[in-house]
Amino acid sequence: MPSLNILRDLKERIRNAKHVVAITGAGISAESGIPTFRGKDGLWKQYRAEELATPWAFEKNPELVWKWYDWRRGIIAKATPNAGHVTLARMEDFYPEFTQITQNVDGLHRKAGSQKVIEIHGNLWRVRCVREGKTFYLEDVPLREISPRCSCGAILRPDVVWFGESLDPELIRKAHEELAACNLLLVIGTSGIVQPVASFPAIARQSGAYIVEINLETTPLTSLADLSLKGKSGDILPALFDFQSDS
Ligand code: APR
Repeated sequence: MPSLNILRDLKERIRNAKHVVAITGAGISAESGIPTFRGKDGLWKQYRAEELATPWAFEKNPELVWKWYDWRRGIIAKATPNAGHVTLARMEDFYPEFTQITQNVDGLHRKAGSQKVIEIHGNLWRVRCVREGKTFYLEDVPLREISPRCSCGAILRPDVVWFGESLDPELIRKAHEELAACNLLLVIGTSGIVQPVASFPAIARQSGAYIVEINLETTPLTSLADLSLKGKSGDILPALFDFQSDS
């Protein structure tokens, strides 16, 4: 546990920051009851990502992929944002410049009231027509039909980024812009191994940002962080942002 002086310095930095970016991963939603991907009970421990989260898997067996997403949507529909999500939503109102870059597709940041959220891996409440490319929200839980169809008759897919697919270049550009301009970067609940987000903290480092990692474990990003806080984001974020408690 960092010393009291270090924590006091950190709270001062957090209070005085002007341009903040928060990168979040599945860990921030864990306390809302949503499984992470690589933890001990993670989704990739129970399922094979190659069979469910790739364009080839969808082409081969869209029903299987949609059944899995329908199951995940059912879990997420019951989940409520936790204190970590809520704190980040409050930060958005507090700081002159604040942006979240989330790898999560669960929509909980928006549900917590955040608006400046770059959903860089998409959103599993949105669907995309494989023929027309148009996207729209389809929030039935459970889905009325597995492998829902577009009005044009083509199959709809989850509007999320699968392994082997590229991210929206406009979202990457926006993320890079924020990372290059921020003076405080929070890296919360991500294992830091999936690109390109795993390389995002290095961009903030180059522009001199102070980097704080919040995670239960050490990750490949820990060595890049100025401070690594071990613990649950639902506990740490409110404590860091609770200036009122300062004497
Ligand atoms: N508080 C903070 N961190 C937590 C908590 C918590 N309560 N619970 C778990 N974590 C941490 C774990 O220690 C782990 O480092 O969250 C991280 C979750 O890592 P992953 O499961 O790998 O999730 P993520 O980093 O978001 O994965 C990135 O991989 O499968 C793809 O597209 C998927 O967006 C996902 C991407």
